[in-house]
Amino acid sequence: PAPGDLDGLDVVVTAGGTREPIDPVRFIGNRSSGRQGIAVAVAAAARGARVRLIAAHVEQALLAEAEQHPAIAVARAGTAAELQDATQQAASDADVVVMAAAVADYRVADVAEGKLTKESSDGTLTLQLVENPDIVAGLAARRRPGQTIVGFAAETAQGEELRARGRRKLARKGVDLLAVNEVGWERGFETPDNSVLFVTATSGDAPEVVSGDKRQVADALWDAVLALR
Ligand code: C5P
Repeated sequence: PAPGDLDGLDVVVTAGGTREPIDPVRFIGNRSSGRQGIAVAVAAAARGARVRLIAAHVEQALLAEAEQHPAIAVARAGTAAELQDATQQAASDADVVVMAAAVADYRVADVAEGKLTKESSDGTLTLQLVENPDIVAGLAARRRPGQTIVGFAAETAQGEELRARGRRKLARKGVDLLAVNEVGWERGFETPDNSVLFVTATSGDAPEVVSGDKRQVADALWDAVLALR
């Protein structure tokens, strides 16, 4: 990456996993550490961008690096709804939005006022879930001319199936660039390394593959964004 090649760019990056409350003490979460999203924010700042990082649940030690950077402003969001509010507001005057956060696809329909107890249970518990709005698809549908919208997709697939899912998801969400990575019980989460496919409208059957630590993947993502602008 060339130093200063993102000078003057206003970027918004989301990172980490949302938590959807069940009751006052419990939530539905996911395994995202925020490592990749935070690396995307730090890489952008290092290359001259002004960065607003909207962090859902992340590993605090990872966030510290971003918080110390003078060009990064950090805001917090807990639930998908909070993340949506914060991201929509920030996106209104951003040149690039990178949705690296792992957003819950569903939230609990009726969050309990008090802690759920086993007293009134027959040994099972049923939670009704309702779909959350797709934040990045909404941003893409309403993007300003010149604004670039980037999504991530974690898929438990490999090879041609991984590429096919990436292409379908790019089209469905309407984003300019989708960073697709293979995840599994042992892959993709809580690790310093990552391997992603960059899918764009023109990448066709041969999307670029980038492997490395999450900072290298972040720099490759910004290279791919610059190539689109
Ligand atoms: O559909 P899927 O969850 O795989 O899509 C992942 C991408 O979509 C990520 O960029 C994520 O931040 C975004 N997303 C979103 N709103 C949701 C679910 C996912 O913006 N409700």
